[in-house]
Parts: sequence; C-alpha cells; structure tokens
Amino acid sequence: MTLLPTPVAALLYLAAAALFILALKGLSSPRTARRGNLLGALGAAIAVVTVLLSTAFRGATLWIVLAAVLVGTAVAVPAARRVKMTEMPQLVAIFNGVGGGAAALVGVVELAERAGEGGAVAAGATAFAVLVGSMSLCGSLLTFAKLQGTMTSRPVVLPGAGPVMVAALLVAVGGAVAVTLTGDVWLGAALLAVGLVIGALLVLPVGGADVPIVISLLNAFTGLAVAASGWAMSNTLLLVAGTLVGASGTILTRAMATAMGRSVTGILFGALRGGSTAGATEASDRPVRRAQAEDVAITLAYANRVVVVPGYGLAVAQAQHTVAELVTALRERGVDAVYGIHPVAGRMPGHMNVLLAEANVPYELLLDADEVNAAMPSTDVVVVVGANDVVNPAARTDRAAPIYGMPIINADQAGQTIFLKRSMRPGFAGIENELLFADKTQVLFGDAKESLANVVGALKDV
Ligand code: TAP
Repeated sequence: MTLLPTPVAALLYLAAAALFILALKGLSSPRTARRGNLLGALGAAIAVVTVLLSTAFRGATLWIVLAAVLVGTAVAVPAARRVKMTEMPQLVAIFNGVGGGAAALVGVVELAERAGEGGAVAAGATAFAVLVGSMSLCGSLLTFAKLQGTMTSRPVVLPGAGPVMVAALLVAVGGAVAVTLTGDVWLGAALLAVGLVIGALLVLPVGGADVPIVISLLNAFTGLAVAASGWAMSNTLLLVAGTLVGASGTILTRAMATAMGRSVTGILFGALRGGSTAGATEASDRPVRRAQAEDVAITLAYANRVVVVPGYGLAVAQAQHTVAELVTALRERGVDAVYGIHPVAGRMPGHMNVLLAEANVPYELLLDADEVNAAMPSTDVVVVVGANDVVNPAARTDRAAPIYGMPIINADQAGQTIFLKRSMRPGFAGIENELLFADKTQVLFGDAKESLANVVGALKDV
C-alpha cells in the first residue's frame, strides 16, 4: 500500500528530471548559477519525497530510511555551511564518494534481493554500478585526504603499481562477467572490494594540484554508477540523474584537462610511467625590474585600458576585495579596467569567478581569455595578481614545457605588464616565466593584498 499511485509518482519523477536539466543550464553561467542550484535542490527534494510516498516499505525499513535521511542532513548541512571557499573541492570529493558508495551498496542489495533472478542485463548493470561506484568511493576518499593534507599530496607510486593495476583490472572484468552470468551476491561483494582497490590505485599516483581534475572524473564515474543502478532497478529518475552527472562530469574533466593543455590519461598514469606531476619550487635568481606601489599607481592612472589577470595568489592572499577596490577606483577615473579570467586560474574550476563574486564584482567586467586576448594589442597594462602559468608564453613556444599547448592570456602582447607576487618562485607548473624578465615588465613584490592596498592608497595622490 503506497500513498502515491504509480502514474503520479512517474509524473513527479519527470518534473524532478526536468528541474535537474534546468539546474545544469542555470549552473553554466555565474549570473544564473544560484537559481540553477535552487532548482536542482528542489528537484532532489521532489525526488526524495516521491520515493518516500510511492514505495511500499516493509517492516521497519521506512524508519531506517528516515533515520538515514536525518543523519545525512545533520552531517551535510553544517558541513556545507561552514566550508571555506578554498576547501570546496574536498567537500565535493566527499559528497561524490558517498554517492558512488551508495550506488555500489544499492547494487549489492539488489543482487541479494533478486537472488540470481531478473536476467543477465540487469545483473550486468548492477555489476557495473558496484564496481564503478566502489572505485569512486575509495578514489574520492583518497582525493579528500590529499587535498585536506591528511596524507601527502605528492604522487604515491607503490612498488609494482603498474602490474598490480593491470591484474586488478583483469580480476574486475572477470568478476563483472561472473556477476552478470550468475547474479551471485557474494561475487558482487567481492567485486566491490576489487573496485575499492582500483579506486586507490587510480588516485594514489596523482599529484596535488591535478587532484581537482580527478575529482571531476570520479564525479563522472559516480554518475555512470548511479545511472547503471537506475537501469537495474528500472528507476527512470536515477537513470536520468546519473546520466546527467556522468555526462557533465565527463565534459568538465575534458574541459579542465584541455584548459591545462594536459591529457586525462597523462594525469592519471603520468606518475606510473615515471614522470612526476608536481613541478619544481626553487626561486629564480635572474634580475627583474622592481616596481614601487607609487610607480604602479601612476602607470595605471594614465592608462586607457587595463586588464587585471588574477590567479592562485589572489586566493592565497584573499585579495579579492582589494583588487575590486583598485578596479573600481580606476574605472571611476575613466580607465577601461576589466578582469581577464583564465579557465584554470587558481586551483579549482571557477575559482576566480567565485572569489570575485564574493567581492560583488559585476559579471560584465569578467572577460574570458579569448575576449581579453582579442583586445590585447590595444591594452596598455596587464596587472598579473598572483598568477603565473596562465600568462606564461612558454605555453606557446616551449615544446618541452609541461604547460605547452595550454591556451594562455597573452599578457606579453600588451604595452606593459606588472606582476604582483611575493618572490621569484614559479607557479604550479614549476617553470620559469620569461615574461617576468621582459623589458616592458615590472614586478611589485609582496603579498598581493598588501601590494594592492598600497597601490589603491597611492592612486589617491595621483
Ligand atoms: P600559478 O601559476 O600557480 O601561480 C601562482 C602565483 O601566485 C605564483 O607566482 C606565486 O608566486 C603567487 N602567489 C602565491 N601567493 C601569493 C600571495 N599571497 N600574494 C601574491 N602572490 C602570490 O597560478 P595561476 O597562474 O593561477 O595558474 C594556475 C595553475 O594551476 C595552472 O598551472 C593550472 O593548470 C593549475 N591547476 C588549475 C586547476 C584549476 S581547475 N583551476 C586545477 C589544478 C591545477 P610567489 O610564491 O612568488 O608569491
């Protein structure tokens, strides 16, 4: 006996699926992202309530489900409210891992309930959900530990990792075939264990700052696992939601890898093949032209067009409000000052957009790399605030550079370049940036927030 008849439940699932699609559409632009997020949450709420009202729960199952919802809410709501913007990738990793783990466990329960009946196609989909879901669970927990600093963020290559990985993959394929043919629950449980091992082997060799890409890949895995369990359980909503997560995760992974000029296989297997993904950290001792805040203020005040290129250092310095103050002050003086946002500036997708939105920077002032590059020859000054790799011309010219092929913001084509950084240490890629030593470049050394505040102060006297 259920409270909702099946056709009504099906219509509500359709509404939830439509809301998920609208949510993704909304999330594709900073302007509509909040609304998109709310639509997605509404879709999820409708889905949960529909499941509760349309399922014939046996015995104490309903109470167990409600208790799980309560515990999940009690843990997730404060975690999401308290998380710092810089710790967002960790939160995404944990949420993602939990989703993958849930898909894997649901798969094992399905096998137990069907007890070998229900056909090979459903058993095959279940085997896929168990294997990929458990890979995602273990991989996501390790990425969390790497980003949180609970374990080393350097690539960890265990002795014999390559052959062990090949052996684990062979066992996984064999196990999945066996589960498909027999529908045996114990084989399913063993497959789950193999999935955990593969998840660990996949993520351990990945170096620190490549981890956000791996999170996105694991996110796609979770989506596929959920879609497979939806297929096995004939649940359309799980199938649709899983497919959406799988597709968007795959697109994001590819977009991030392309924007970094890397291949996904290079990131996953680079360390296994012997190449480390972490760069050098020594500072260069070559001389550069040093600037003072006062010189920078004068240069900017008399410019027509200024492009500010923020990077990882903006996040480290938490200088988003101060950089917004500088751009506002310049615009009030009639300078055409805008921001040039590189897709992988910082350490997570949309890092700069999120920081600048926090400082209420109008979206119209955030231009993407192609837009700023088109007007670069007529740009007087580029101010590089805590960025390095995203303006490094080696990406265009040096075949040996790890960033070779990555599209950059062509700061070298502007009239002048001013770097705000603390030292001569390189950025994430660990390579020197020739632009720092160019005749038309000046470096204002110091923490970005302090340097920007000094420039804003000096601007008042110009
Ligand atoms: P980076 O190339 O890493 O350069 C950051 C710069 O900020 C460094 O030159 C550093 O120099 C400076 N800096 C650090 N703290 C600072 C502070 N408090 N004040 C002033 N400057 C400071 O950053 P980027 O240009 O944003 O490039 C991002 C890199 O990360 C790319 O290589 C990208 O591929 C990689 N990555 C991105 C992502 C995503 S999704 N965004 C994910 C993984 C990896 P000092 O130490 O001398 O100050």
